[in-house]
Amino acid sequence: PDSLTFLGIESSCDDTAAAIVRHAPGTAAQVLSSVVEGQTSLHAAFGGVVPEIAARAHAERVDLCIEAALDQAGLTLAQIDGIAVTAGPGLIGGVLSGVMCAKGLAAATGLPLIGVNHLAGHALTPRLTDGIAYPYLMLLVSGGHCQFLRVDGPDAFTRLGGSIDDAPGEAFDKVAKILGLPQPGGPSVQAEASGGDPRRIPLPRPLLDRPGYDLSFSGLKTAVLRARDGLMAGLGGLRRQDRADLCAAFQAAVADVLVEKSRRALTDHPVGVFAVAGGVAANTEIRARLTALCEGLGVTFLAPPLRLCTDNAAMIAWAGIEQFRLRGADDLTLSARPRWPL
Ligand code: KG4
Ligand code: ZN
Repeated sequence: PDSLTFLGIESSCDDTAAAIVRHAPGTAAQVLSSVVEGQTSLHAAFGGVVPEIAARAHAERVDLCIEAALDQAGLTLAQIDGIAVTAGPGLIGGVLSGVMCAKGLAAATGLPLIGVNHLAGHALTPRLTDGIAYPYLMLLVSGGHCQFLRVDGPDAFTRLGGSIDDAPGEAFDKVAKILGLPQPGGPSVQAEASGGDPRRIPLPRPLLDRPGYDLSFSGLKTAVLRARDGLMAGLGGLRRQDRADLCAAFQAAVADVLVEKSRRALTDHPVGVFAVAGGVAANTEIRARLTALCEGLGVTFLAPPLRLCTDNAAMIAWAGIEQFRLRGADDLTLSARPRWPL
């Protein structure tokens, strides 16, 4: 009776996604389908996401993703109880594609429509995957986000701090570019780092001595560039071992600052559960260091499976279910918000 089955739609960056999630109180939530269509190949030639190309691709693909999600769940729209859509923050053209599509479906079917904050989607994912209770602490680390959040309810988030410049994934990507490694940079820097010595080349630990939870990664990237130029001086290129050592040093520096700021956040907010989300949470070194930190502090550490940690629509459907139960539906005047702090 209180079981809800929601369609989720996500189009705020460079993934077009649709998913179906079902939940009845007192039971585990079920991801009935989760379709994610990346746009990496469309943007590859430009060295970054091109908003105009992204918007067009979302507009062209979003209804196909929805059909595929319904198909894979074995459901029709008539069996859906509500539609949740990312209404921001993100690239306005992409967000609009999703919001317009969701509004059209809601108007045609009479289904409730819920506009979800993309960051809330990430932040509520540990409840979808592990059914954990409020409150908990969350570290979002991806190519676009870096923040510590305290989560007290479906619509109750406190931003404790975050990056004042680049997100860590962005720094991994730029370091890969500096060192001539393939994109996305995270996995390739991690692979190189496994053969390197993290202690040989000293790199800064930005903002480590500053109180609070803010982080900075832009200076670290510049330090890698300088170290590379120093190592290359007089040589035609970068030696293999030098590159591996530089990757290891960079990864260790990122891990050190993330661990130290996490330690502070967990000490100041002893809520017992710490979860990570975002592409950078895939990094084995960072994961291992955060796991060890939590073991030492007696805190439960959660890292949802990667497909639900990176951009997807199951997290949007889930956040939609939670927020619908809390505050009901939005009306059809729902608008897209390129900027929307939690
Ligand atoms: O969450 P995500 O898929 O997309 C958004 O940014 O929203 O994260 C992608 C980012 C990229 O910057 C990528 O380089 C990084 O996550 N990443 C990693 C690893 N795998 C992906 N960074 C470090 N280590 C990894 N193993
Ligand atoms: Zn995201």
